[in-house]
Amino acid sequence: MKGRSWFSSICVLLVSIMIALAAPDALSGAGAGTVSVKRTQYGKMPDGTVIDQYTLTNLKGMTAKVITYGAILTELRVPDRKGRPGDVVLGFNRLAQYLSDHPYFGSTIGRVANRIARGKFTLDGKEYTLAINNGPNHLHGGLKGFNRVVWKAESIVNDDGASVRFTYLSPDGEEGYPGNLLVEVVYTLSAQNELKIQYTATTDKATPVNLTNHSYFNLAGNGDILGHVLMLAADHYTPVDDTLIPTGEIKAVKDTPMDFTTPTPIGARIDQLTGDPGGYDHNYVLNSGGKSLALAARVLEPKSGRVMEMYTTEPGVQFYTGNFLDGTLRGKRGIVYKKHYGFCLEADHFPDAVHHPNFPSIILRPGQTYHQLTIYKFSAE
Ligand code: BGC
Repeated sequence: MKGRSWFSSICVLLVSIMIALAAPDALSGAGAGTVSVKRTQYGKMPDGTVIDQYTLTNLKGMTAKVITYGAILTELRVPDRKGRPGDVVLGFNRLAQYLSDHPYFGSTIGRVANRIARGKFTLDGKEYTLAINNGPNHLHGGLKGFNRVVWKAESIVNDDGASVRFTYLSPDGEEGYPGNLLVEVVYTLSAQNELKIQYTATTDKATPVNLTNHSYFNLAGNGDILGHVLMLAADHYTPVDDTLIPTGEIKAVKDTPMDFTTPTPIGARIDQLTGDPGGYDHNYVLNSGGKSLALAARVLEPKSGRVMEMYTTEPGVQFYTGNFLDGTLRGKRGIVYKKHYGFCLEADHFPDAVHHPNFPSIILRPGQTYHQLTIYKFSAE
């Protein structure tokens, strides 16, 4: 036995050396090589800029793929209760599809996630005007938000897991926002099946900042998400007007179809959310208050047994049930994305916070550092 384990150790060492020599863009580590990261070319921008894809893997059957265009999460493979991995996020096969119109699949959103009423805000006495790109409002950072820029990237492997660190300098005046904003987004796949997203940002002028990730999840991999069972650790939400701008009220979910404080199928009461297009598209006020990392949501997909828990340091989460998906986009594995084929749990501050002094502030000033940690943790039961 002893001889055999000595022999296998030598073999593992030799194979590791061969991999390292053959693929200088691959790193593995976290103790006994339990996680790894590999860089490959994903595509080219119209001007020839190369877009890379980083593949993060662990030994528990999880794989996450992210690209330098938009710091987008393009693929997330997670084992079901039988250990079979399946892709649980919506997205495309090719860069060209991410370059054309799509509803922010897997994207990093900034400078300000969600809506700003009429695309205007006043900060320290000065009025700023932003693009109107959603009805009468500004949405998800404007015409060319952080989801449509090329990020710098580097890979890291340490005890936390395999990571890709994306950085982007958003110049003063970009999309109408004040200040040079230096943004860092780190995706880490841990050996414990967690996908961690850590954000930091600093500025040289006061500016609003509200970052999030816009992945659409489907823990079954296909079909609608109405049978997924959701728990949201939120006793309150922020009601909206018919252009999805919060009224400013913080309302109790109790005795309404908004209540997910106990696990409930997403589709159980969705028909009561009428209007066009109907469905959930609301900011929940997390009970944690965003004061420390806390459980925000738990989702179970009963057929596959996949479970996703979301932890965040943010005070809110936008729960969106893919109401605007209308069957016009064809994604990975040829799947046509119809209404409710994915759901988003976007950790962030509340929509239109710049107009509501009773909402937690999203203003970042020189000398301060914006921080967010959000973790999506997967298991099966
Ligand atoms: C918004 C939705 C919007 C979707 C895609 C979500 O964050 O709340 O209203 O349709 O993003 O743009």
